[in-house]
Amino acid sequence: MRIELTVNGERLEADLWGGESLLTMLRDTLELPGSKNACEQGECGSCSVLLDGELVCSCLVPAAQANGHAVVTVEGLADGDELHPVQQAFVEAGAVQCGFCTPGLVVAVTDLLARIPDPGDDEIREALSGNLCRCTGYAKIFDAVRLAAERR
Ligand code: FES
Ligand code: FES
Repeated sequence: MRIELTVNGERLEADLWGGESLLTMLRDTLELPGSKNACEQGECGSCSVLLDGELVCSCLVPAAQANGHAVVTVEGLADGDELHPVQQAFVEAGAVQCGFCTPGLVVAVTDLLARIPDPGDDEIREALSGNLCRCTGYAKIFDAVRLAAERR
């Protein structure tokens, strides 16, 4: 089937097979590999994107459901060569090690700060509870969230 959707502000058409996930379509058809595929079970958050402004695990969303809707991936956050403030904060806080979790975390933190501009520790913990990181121990990620919040 063929669907129409907006991805990172651009109106696109995509052909997909019936059971295809939004994640697979983004990565394989639309050549946007920023959203990572780690578990495909909604457990790790590495595939997080915004669907009509709502944070979702793109591995759990059938691509067909995106028909007529707007998706923002991590690739859509930067302004040309200029990193998004959340991306910049992750770099400056040293919140990236292997980087596999980073795109999903950046999207989740962007969503958090849009909803709660100055989150407390519990709100950060709650917001990032669906995003697994096996490298950092989360301390630097919390630093990045606070840095990004300070700069808003
Ligand atoms: S790949 Fe989607 S939650 Fe892990
Ligand atoms: S930096 Fe490696 S999983 Fe988070």
